Amino acid sequence: FYDFYEELRSNDDLFWDRTLRAWVATGHAVVSKAAGDPGLSSVRYPDIEDVPEELRPLARVLSRQMLYNDAPDHPRLRALISKAFAPRAVQTLRGRIVEAVDRIITGAVPAGRMDIVADLARPLPLTIICDLLDVPEEDRPALASWSEPIAEAIGNSRLDADRNREASQSMTDMLAYFRELLSRRDIPPSPYTLRALVGAQAENTDQDLDELLANCALLLIAGHETTTHFIGNATLALLRHPHAADQLRSRPDLMPAAVEELLRYDAPVQLMLRRARRDLDLAGRTITEGQTVLLVGGAANRDPAVFPDPHVLDFERPGARHMSFGHGPHFCLGAALARLEGAIVLETLLTRLPGLRLDGAAPQWQRSLNFRGLTRLDVAFTP
Ligand code: HEM
Repeated sequence: FYDFYEELRSNDDLFWDRTLRAWVATGHAVVSKAAGDPGLSSVRYPDIEDVPEELRPLARVLSRQMLYNDAPDHPRLRALISKAFAPRAVQTLRGRIVEAVDRIITGAVPAGRMDIVADLARPLPLTIICDLLDVPEEDRPALASWSEPIAEAIGNSRLDADRNREASQSMTDMLAYFRELLSRRDIPPSPYTLRALVGAQAENTDQDLDELLANCALLLIAGHETTTHFIGNATLALLRHPHAADQLRSRPDLMPAAVEELLRYDAPVQLMLRRARRDLDLAGRTITEGQTVLLVGGAANRDPAVFPDPHVLDFERPGARHMSFGHGPHFCLGAALARLEGAIVLETLLTRLPGLRLDGAAPQWQRSLNFRGLTRLDVAFTP
């Protein structure tokens, strides 16, 4: 996988791919420059008429959220909910994350084996996002069932009409649910949660509620599968590098650096997509208005010009910035939360599961162009 990137990058760090009909950026310098270039747009559906009809209801909602907007709408939309992701707000979730991880691990201990993906990496991020949104326990399965077809439709442009229709309907149902949740007086919003924040804005300003809710829905999509993949990929990397795992057990102070290195080493999001707003120069090449540029963060993360010995997992690597959370104005809003969840999971796995090792079938990777993550990761340990 990463050998292929290396081959591409050693030929050219930015090239036109005829099959993809897109520019492909693989070098660290060009990916970071492009991610912050105002000439490259993040608008995903410039013309809604080009979207298959059954997908339009979903596309209309998505086009109102921050990730698919440029300035001046982008900073305005980001400001609506960014307070809930400030370091102080994220730290209030620490206790909930520790509790949720402990509960899962305690449940798995007697058996001496678990599937890290199904038992831990998949349920945890959803639990935490639901905490952030104040979603009551009994409503969480519904949220999970809506978010799956939506994520599938976003990640795959060739779904059949029925699946697209299901994704659109799921988004409609999710927004209707959020609307109802905001109006419920029987569950008082906890401080710092998005429900408190959004509820206050909806009451005190003439802020468009649909726009607020579209950005809440984005969190389920942007923060769910990504964090799941991070937990799976990071656990696998530690299992394949027992020395690194031992180093982390004996030096817990290395955890923040380890989280960054694990994100660099096997990024959950491999690609970011942009489109040229006008003709522009990027690393000496002319990009023509309307052309697509794929920013391959996963390849930039292994660029030897920035990360010497890029295929080595090294928690003491001097600090260059990886591209796994993106770069520039769209830098991941949930980065602090994802880092915290990752650190708590890894610390718990390393300290509470002695003899942790791979078990059973080889780890299975999901088939996807832009996401990199496991569908299954069986481990065993001493009960
Ligand atoms: C944006 C990765 C977790 C919310 C992004 C981007 C990347 C990314 C690469 C930039 C996309 C682009 O520029 O096109 C990840 C990874 C995660 C993670 C690898 C886990 C390890 C989360 C979580 C949340 C979240 C937990 C929230 C609950 C967002 C939002 C944006 C974003 C709202 C859009 C920001 C904007 O457009 O200004 N993420 N993310 N992410 N992420 Fe994350």
